[in-house]
Amino acid sequence: MEHKIDQLANRISPHYTHFDVQNRLLFTGHSHQAWPDIALEGLKESFSSAANEVDNKWDAAFKKTELLRGYLRNFYDDPDGLYCRGENTHQLLVSWLSSFDLGEKPKIITTNGEFHSMFRQLHRLREEDLEVITVDANPDTIVKEVRNEIDDRVSAIMLSHVYFESGIINPHLGTIAELARTNNIPFLIDDYHGTNVVPLSIRDENLEDCYLLIGGYKYLQWGEGNCFLRFPKNCELRPVITGWFASFSSLDEPRNDQPVEYDDGNQRFASGTFDPASQFRAAKVVEFFREQELSPTVLRRQYLAQVKLLRKLFLEQQFDPEVIKLRHERSLEQNGGFLALQSPFARTIRAKLMENKVFTDARGDVLRLGPAPYITTDQINQAIEKLADVVYNLNP
Ligand SMILES: Cc1ncc(COP(=O)(O)O)c(C=O)c1O
Repeated sequence: MEHKIDQLANRISPHYTHFDVQNRLLFTGHSHQAWPDIALEGLKESFSSAANEVDNKWDAAFKKTELLRGYLRNFYDDPDGLYCRGENTHQLLVSWLSSFDLGEKPKIITTNGEFHSMFRQLHRLREEDLEVITVDANPDTIVKEVRNEIDDRVSAIMLSHVYFESGIINPHLGTIAELARTNNIPFLIDDYHGTNVVPLSIRDENLEDCYLLIGGYKYLQWGEGNCFLRFPKNCELRPVITGWFASFSSLDEPRNDQPVEYDDGNQRFASGTFDPASQFRAAKVVEFFREQELSPTVLRRQYLAQVKLLRKLFLEQQFDPEVIKLRHERSLEQNGGFLALQSPFARTIRAKLMENKVFTDARGDVLRLGPAPYITTDQINQAIEKLADVVYNLNP
């Protein structure tokens, strides 16, 4: 009988001919996924829209962004959430952070598991006297450590739902949100590795007053330029880093010395003019996911099954743990959409896998293998076989 993984993968993979997913071993799904063929129609549509409608194209472009918002509200079970689009999560996080009086409250609580966008920016701000408190990302201790650091000098808590390096899920978002709420501290969750992989109901988890960073380049298959900051509907933050797209309604008013205004709605953290082609492209992907019924539950099931198989086949190889081992041994339910391996030779292994036409990635001593819903069991088998070839032929 056809494996459950293949039932879905074989159904959708024929729709990715441009990326040729059936004939390549694309195991960088945690970094960037293939786009379905229909995405090309979105790009063509964006060109036609610009050509036909000239500067009026923005109405069509904003409608596409609205479709993306609708998708996210559905994924997050979040009918009331607002979603500001940005080119990347860094732009959105900078605008968000600029809302706070960091002179008055210079303390930020974060973890040692954050992606470069947040890490680098906070690290640089530390040189400007921001007090960046880095707690251990370990789910067993994180709540206690965050609680211990909270005082009236904290401006924000900023941490991930799924850690980019290990794949470990932080299961305590609700508890940390409660701590933040009680102490009147804004809480920003980086969910780049959670969206479309690990279902999260904002209503059930009681996260309505939280902020989420969401990116389109990985599991959403939306490509570049489709990141979002989710924020609560009653948000009154006034970002200092603010672009004119944050207040179209005041553009025609005479300029005055009154405080800068922000429109109600989704645009509070917006910047300025951007290339809307990526929204046209992504809107087609949303259509495709709907047609193929790739619901949060279906996606989660597929990633779990694929990572389970990757892990099983990896363990069957019985590699020398001094050479390569699992990055963590927690249960799969506590893991996101990729398999993280640890090896002092991670970069060499990645390079050799690439020579063998297997796409993976390595950061420091971590090698990551990320499937995608269109990856079959046969491709998973091939990837691990090639990994074994490379590992057994290493000449350290
Ligand atoms: C957890 C996480 N956050 C953010 C990003 C991307 O940040 P940016 O949109 O600023 O490039 C990534 C990966 O590329 C990530 O893994």
